Formats: sequence, structure tokens, C-alpha cells
Amino acid sequence: MPLPFIAAAFLEGLPAWVPDPWLMLKAGSSLGALAVAKRYMSGAMCIAERDMHGRVVLITGGTSGIGAVTAFELAQRGAQVVLLTHLPPSDPFLVEFVDDMRERTGNDLVYAEQVDLSSLHSVRQFATRWIDNAPPRRLDMVVLCAATLTPPGSKRTETPEGVETTWMVNYLANFHLLGILSPAIRAQPFDRDVRIILPTCSAYISSPPLDLVIQDKDWTPGKAYARSKLALMVFAKAYQKHLDAYKRPDELPMNARVFLVDPGFTRTPGSRRWLTRGSLWGLILYMVFYAFSWLLMKSAEMGAQSLLWAMLEESLIRDGGGKLVKECMVVDCARRDVDDEAVAKKLWEASDKLIERVEKEEALKRAKGKKEQEKREEDAKNAEQVEELESLLNTIKNGQQAKESQKSKSNTAGGGKKQKSSSSKPTAQ
Ligand SMILES: NC(=O)c1ccc[n+]([C@@H]2O[C@H](COP(=O)([O-])OP(=O)(O)OC[C@H]3O[C@@H](n4cnc5c(N)ncnc54)[C@H](OP(=O)(O)O)[C@@H]3O)[C@@H](O)[C@H]2O)c1
Repeated sequence: MPLPFIAAAFLEGLPAWVPDPWLMLKAGSSLGALAVAKRYMSGAMCIAERDMHGRVVLITGGTSGIGAVTAFELAQRGAQVVLLTHLPPSDPFLVEFVDDMRERTGNDLVYAEQVDLSSLHSVRQFATRWIDNAPPRRLDMVVLCAATLTPPGSKRTETPEGVETTWMVNYLANFHLLGILSPAIRAQPFDRDVRIILPTCSAYISSPPLDLVIQDKDWTPGKAYARSKLALMVFAKAYQKHLDAYKRPDELPMNARVFLVDPGFTRTPGSRRWLTRGSLWGLILYMVFYAFSWLLMKSAEMGAQSLLWAMLEESLIRDGGGKLVKECMVVDCARRDVDDEAVAKKLWEASDKLIERVEKEEALKRAKGKKEQEKREEDAKNAEQVEELESLLNTIKNGQQAKESQKSKSNTAGGGKKQKSSSSKPTAQ
């Protein structure tokens, strides 16, 4: 069949219904170039594997974007996954999300715990509950994916505790959580491969230096995000040193490793909110030009690959922690202050001070609120008692009044009878 066709095409030329070969070649090479570009922009794939059965993983941001894919992959490999989310475990969305993940991964060990990363109190409540266990609970991995990215043009906001929101969620909450969990991490057996994964972003390169506090008038969402990621990186390196410096009671080496991971530019609800500036018009434009974001940005699945590599790659245990991972390999940091011990010390001390101050203020506020609440409850109770007493008095009064009126009625009735009977009595003459 093809031979006669080729012979006819050779002798008489191509039939009219066959498109121009040049056109076909151009279209084919365009599609090929598109496929190559797409593959290149999608980044490296993680091919590392590690048995995760029986391992316990705490993950923040596990309900959206890169974090959700990571949590799913870990659950699929058999890990016990604890999703730390600001939603209460009874929230219908969360219940459905957890059920769905259990069903699709065939792993029932997926749980949710409420931790609001915009509240130091909420972080402390969860972390102290976690470490308050003897013997210490098993902990193999802490993955801190949660972050907030305020759309460009938006105003600076503060958490109810008075800390700038981006700084709080992206940096201070992680500092606080790992600070309290530190004894639980250090208490793991020496042969347990414990990893702490902190996603960062190349935006840190453009951050102002950490000792330069951003004034309100100079504040922009981009600067705040970049600065929070730079702080996270400086802290991650310092935290690795803090873990390494710990002398175990059994004098065996510490096996906990901290890894910073840059997932690359990824299509997630967070990046979409940023690209669309959180507006309807932005969303319409995003949908119209979706082809560009599809081509130039990774999918959430591809964005999670470097995180998975940092979690699963065996060789990373040998080389030690405090490393930056990008495109499934260890890379150098682009800023020298990330490794600067003086910067790290200053940041650590300032963060400790800020947490102490805010926690004290909040504790006082809570104590005051509790007192006021108790007073309100006591006042309400007193008012209730007074009301009860008044109604009792009223009942007694009414009863007495009723009695008196009955008495006076019967008196008048008795008087009338008396009069009647006295008038009917014959007088002695
Ligand atoms: N996407 C990118 O292009 C990109 C690039 C470089 C680095 N990264 C980093 O990769 C990580 C994941 O990014 P993503 O784009 O996948 O994030 P995302 O889709 O925006 O998801 C952020 C997650 O953080 C949670 N979260 C926000 N505020 C919280 C709070 N107060 N308490 C508890 N949880 C809170 C969110 O929970 P709710 O959904 O319930 O609000 C959500 O699960 C982030 O650290 C980000 O900085 C992302």
C-alpha cells in the first residue's frame, strides 16, 4: 500500500489533499521546540526512593500547591502524615481533603492538627502538646511548606498578635515551631534519618539586608516576602549548627539534617493569587494568557520534585545538612550573608526577643480577658440570682396580696352576713 503511494508521489507529485511538506516541517519543528521548552521549564524529576513506611512526618501547607503534592507522595509511600493546618479538624473541607487523601493513597495514617501559623500562641500550643510525651514521640521529618505571599499593591497587614503577617507566617512561626520541637528532634535515636525541609524562593537574593528593618512607607509585598525567605535561610543554617552542637547523652552523633529547597516558579494557588494581584481582572487575564504560565511555570507535581529529592535521596545523609537544594541537586547560595554567623546570631536573638515580648503581652491580654470573662459571668450569675429573688419576692407579695384580698372579701362577706343576721334577729323589748 505505501509503496504505490510513494511511487505515485515521486512520479506525479503529491496529491492535493496532502499539506505542503514545508508547512508540515515548520509546524513539526515548532511543536518539537515547544515540547523541549516545556520539558526544560518543568525542571528535574526526582528518581530517588526511600521506604517511608512507619515514618512520622509533620507538614505545614499540606493542603495546597506544592505542599499538597508532597503530602500525597509521602502518604503514598506509607508515611504517617500529620497535616498542620489553620483549619479546625472538623472543617468540612479538611475532613473531605483527609478522606480523599486516605482513599487515593490507601493510607489511613493521614491526620490533621490545627496550628495557625499567624499565631505564636497556636504554634506553642501544638508544639508543647507534641513534645509533652514520655518517651519522646517518633519524628522522622518536618516539612514546612506553608507560606503567605501578599499580592502586589496590597497594604501591609499585621496578625492579631501585632506581628507583620509575611514575617510571621513565612519565618517567625517556623523559627518558633522548630525551637520548641528541638528537644523532640534531638531525642530521636541516632540511627534515625531525621530531616527538616524548608522551602525557600530565589526571591531571597533581592532581599534588603536583614539588619535593615523595612519602614512602613517602604514596605512592599515583594520586599517582605524576599526578606522572610532570606531570614528562613539564615535560620536554617544556624539551626543545623544548633543541632550539630548538641552532645547526645549516649555520645553518638546527631543525625538530624536541615535542607532548604527552592522548588522553582510553580503554578499554585499562592502564585496565582500573586500573579492575578488577587483581583477578578487579574484572574481573567491569567486565564486568557494561561498558555504562558503553562509553558513557563512548573506544575505543582513538578514543583514538588526537589522537595521529594531532599526527603528521599540517601546520599544526603552522608554529606550533612544545611544545604540548598534546587532541581534535585545541591547548589550554592547566592548570598554570602546566608552563612554569616554574626547575622544569624543577631536574627536568632531578635526573634527570641520578639517572641518573648509578644507572648508576654498576649498572656497578659488572655489573663485580662479571662478575668473580664469571669467577672462578666459572675455579674450575669448575680443578675440571675437577683432576678430569681425578685420573682420569688413578687410571688410571695402576690400571694400575700391575694390572701389579703381574699380575707377582706371574706370579711366584707362575713360583715354583711353579720349585719344581715343581726338585722334579722328579733330585738328584746
Ligand atoms: N509557588 C511558587 O512559585 C514558589 C516558588 C518558590 C518557593 N515557593 C515556596 O514553596 C512553598 C509552597 O508554596 P505554594 O505556592 O505551594 O503555596 P500555596 O499554594 O500558597 O499554599 C500555602 C499553604 O500555606 C498555608 N497557610 C497559609 N497561611 C497559613 C497560616 N496562617 N497557618 C497555617 N497554614 C497557612 C495555606 O493553607 P490554606 O490553603 O488553608 O490557607 C496553604 O496550605 C512556600 O514556602 C513558598 O514560599 C513557592
